[in-house]
Amino acid sequence: MALSGIDAVVFGVADPDAAQRLLDDWGLVRSSAAPVPLCYATRDGGEVIVHPAQAPDLPPAIEPGSTLRELVWGAPDAASLAESVARLRAGGIACAAGPDGAVRLRDPNGMALALRVSRRRPVAVAATPANGPGAPQRIDRRAPVHARAAPATLGHVVLFAADFAAMRDFYTRHLGFVVSDEYPGHGVFLRCAARGPHHNLFLLNRPGRPGVNHVAFTVADIHEVIGGGIAMSRRGWKTEIGPGRHPISSAYFWYFHNPLGPPLEYYADDDFCTDAWQPGTFERRPELFAEWAIAGGIDGATRRQARATEESGRGHA
Ligand SMILES: [Fe+2]
Repeated sequence: MALSGIDAVVFGVADPDAAQRLLDDWGLVRSSAAPVPLCYATRDGGEVIVHPAQAPDLPPAIEPGSTLRELVWGAPDAASLAESVARLRAGGIACAAGPDGAVRLRDPNGMALALRVSRRRPVAVAATPANGPGAPQRIDRRAPVHARAAPATLGHVVLFAADFAAMRDFYTRHLGFVVSDEYPGHGVFLRCAARGPHHNLFLLNRPGRPGVNHVAFTVADIHEVIGGGIAMSRRGWKTEIGPGRHPISSAYFWYFHNPLGPPLEYYADDDFCTDAWQPGTFERRPELFAEWAIAGGIDGATRRQARATEESGRGHA
């Protein structure tokens, strides 16, 4: 059995107080009262753990500044974990079991990875049914307006690959990830298993400069993307880009700058794949990153488009 998704993300940050304000506003639940590290959880128990950047027990950063220091992947059970580890070792990848039960290794970017039996509890978060002409699916029921988001899961991480071919090979051949869609030579969308959401990991080619592009959280539907994003804007957090919609993966998105370092994303309604999914290959074009997107976001007070003050420099696609 393959890995089942992201179990935890561990950050090292320059300003833990600002990180705490962000995590409270993002809609996560604090899972430990200890001041260090900050521990928060998604609705399914996915963990966001934040240490001061200089904490001695953190793995080294792959880029300057506040950023992701360890990416923890969950396996559905102990047998699956053992299978993943055996596959890594058979491929010549060094990995070591720690006292916490996790197996640790590095990807070709130098990012610290941990594999463990997943501690997440599966959640089923129903999207609001939509009414089509002559095909109502939501009858005698209003659609929601969300006062804030409550992220359900850690959906995906996007990494800049210093050696794109090596990273693609590592995650597909050694960790068993499946290609969902691809910009050949530039970017590849990967899911942990044949059956699952469109991507748990997206790799972007950035020769010689490893990094973390963003970390993304699932929410129920477009209404929660919008309500969550407006709540973040109202609390003063700056949009990186969004709201908008990705044609590849079909998801609605909204990205925010934040003190964890890489942008954080709310997203909803991504494609769900099985063995029958047909991977596509695409040429890199801005309209494939976003069918549409609002630069600057939506002002939290007026609920109108905010004036864009900066261009997104992320170069997503
Ligand atoms: Fe994303």
